[in-house]
Amino acid sequence: MKVLVTGGLGFIGSHTVVELQNKGFEVVIIDNLSNSSIEVLDGIEAISGVRPLFEELDLKEKSRVEEFFKAHKDIVGVIHFAASKAVGESVNEPLMYYENNLNTLIYVLKSVLHLDSANFIFSSSCTVYGQADELPILESAPVKPAESPYGNTKQIGEEIIVDTCKVRSNLNAISLRYFNPIGAHASAKIGELPLGVPQNLVPFITQTAAGLREQLAVFGDDYPTPDGTCIRDYIHVVDLAKAHVVALQRLLEKKNPENYEVFNIGTGKGSSVLEVIQSFEKVTGLKLNYKIAERRAGDVIQAFADTSKSNEVLGWKAELSLDDAMESAWKWEKHIRNI
Ligand code: UD1
Repeated sequence: MKVLVTGGLGFIGSHTVVELQNKGFEVVIIDNLSNSSIEVLDGIEAISGVRPLFEELDLKEKSRVEEFFKAHKDIVGVIHFAASKAVGESVNEPLMYYENNLNTLIYVLKSVLHLDSANFIFSSSCTVYGQADELPILESAPVKPAESPYGNTKQIGEEIIVDTCKVRSNLNAISLRYFNPIGAHASAKIGELPLGVPQNLVPFITQTAAGLREQLAVFGDDYPTPDGTCIRDYIHVVDLAKAHVVALQRLLEKKNPENYEVFNIGTGKGSSVLEVIQSFEKVTGLKLNYKIAERRAGDVIQAFADTSKSNEVLGWKAELSLDDAMESAWKWEKHIRNI
């Protein structure tokens, strides 16, 4: 069974390709290499023993997308990761974000509608909930106004899929709302490759420990949380990757009662910034150089998932711990820096 993974050389995409191949799916990757590297194919092959098909293609090129799907009519499902994801950049370049994330979604979806097996998995984000009124966050929690153009592309993306599902009953779609993906494959053959200075916590921690950054700034310790730092639900990327496989299998086995569903993908457990640092120090035996700094604009205080729906309906549960994730993130950092 052939599955298309767009953005399949990216952080979450590459781990998902490995899990799909482990389950016997034939994978074809589309990636424009804008924020990824062709060597990721070697890592995927080294882990799974299979080199996936790869097409370098920018999904904004509508006619090439159509041609691609004409040549691959046997695709049984599409997992759509390809998107720009830097929150700060999206504030400065909103049109680039709307064009990259929405045009590409529309072109891919249009082609998916012509497949005999129109199954579609969308990368959404817990960012759609903003600062939720109730914790843990249920899928039924209201979607709050987006804090950034990036966040808005996830909200609008979900709406585009909902509206299409209403009138195209052959389309079956699932949006997975990821909490904070971290970690790397235990083999250290694939992982996160942030461009420039990392904006996210865990790559900043590992780069600081590796000597690329002098010091981690902890953004605020005066939040109304037990230790004063923000709380997030950090989900190991391998667990997250497996959620995509399970979601796709649900659609292939026609177990979905509705043709559009949404699931939270997190651990259900909140961890503070200081707890993440402690976990890193514990598993590596290193001392991290960090200081408390000002709050970062736009940060929510707490976000962690209610995972009952994904546990019960999808039959998926996060199995790896924060410690596992920090250990694998460090192993990956050491691998790419030859430490
Ligand atoms: C961010 C995005 C979110 C996106 C997600 C993808 C924002 C506001 N949100 O989530 O939309 O879906 O990345 O992974 O950018 N922190 C520090 N020091 C640092 C970096 C982070 O203290 O140098 C803290 C933050 O204040 C936050 C936590 O670590 O409390 C996690 O931050 P981060 O990894 O950037 O993720 P989010 O902001 O939760």
